Amino acid sequence: MRAPAHFNGLARLLHWTMSALILAMLFIGIAMVGSMSLRSTLIALHIPLGVAIFVLACVRLINRLRHSPPPLPSDLPRWQVLSAHASHWLLYALMLAMPLIGWGMLSAGGYPIALWAGFTLPAIAPHDPLVYSVLRTADTWLALLLFATILTHIAAAQFHAWVRRDGVYSAMARGAPRGTRSAPAAPTSSLGND
Ligand code: HEM
Ligand code: HEM
Repeated sequence: MRAPAHFNGLARLLHWTMSALILAMLFIGIAMVGSMSLRSTLIALHIPLGVAIFVLACVRLINRLRHSPPPLPSDLPRWQVLSAHASHWLLYALMLAMPLIGWGMLSAGGYPIALWAGFTLPAIAPHDPLVYSVLRTADTWLALLLFATILTHIAAAQFHAWVRRDGVYSAMARGAPRGTRSAPAAPTSSLGND
């Protein structure tokens, strides 16, 4: 069967919706930590958005494992292919880990995890100051790692769009016409071909 020239509709819809949500969450998180007056409003936004990202990331991961992505151009240097695979899986790991760490952090601190007024989520970690402090530190460092990975990812996407013009960008942006990517190699597995 011929390899697809673009990501399927659900993958593209989730990619762009979640990009906006995740970027918003990074800025909401920083503002939340930095402002006393906006804190309660922002946290009331941060928790449901973060949980939504977790649910959408699970749907996206299942879709990604069920549908082979378009193969990368066969003339792409090996280090770029490896970097693309590694960074995409790192992004998936962080999209799943950040909400769980936030949720675990509030649980360990003994705070209510209000999804909306009158509905709170159960604790997923023991009420323990040490666990809280480990998760709080992890949250800061992983947020920085997520931000740095996203910036590199956007830079790589621009490189494909404007310098190489090899169909990688349009495969995610709106669905490339078939055959835009140069001589794609046959996909190997659903896990190794992003
Ligand atoms: C993809 C999802 C998420 C992203 C990108 C994200 C991002 C962030 C960022 C950037 C910070 C500021 C970190 C710092 O400056 O040290 C933060 C703090 C925090 N986040 Fe999230 N977060 C996510 C999900 C969640 C979820 C689901 C919850 C709760 C259920 C949550 C609860 C918190 C809490 C409690 C803080 C610390 C507030 C404080 O100590 O002042 N986060 N988050
Ligand atoms: C929070 C921001 C973002 C995250 C977390 C993210 C995550 C991902 C992930 C995990 C993939 C692998 C394909 C998949 O399974 O969905 C991907 C692919 C892609 N992303 Fe993003 N992305 C973000 C923002 C952006 C932005 C702003 C652009 C464009 C400027 C972009 C362009 C692309 C392109 C072109 C691909 C296809 C790469 C390929 O064919 O191998 N992404 N993205």
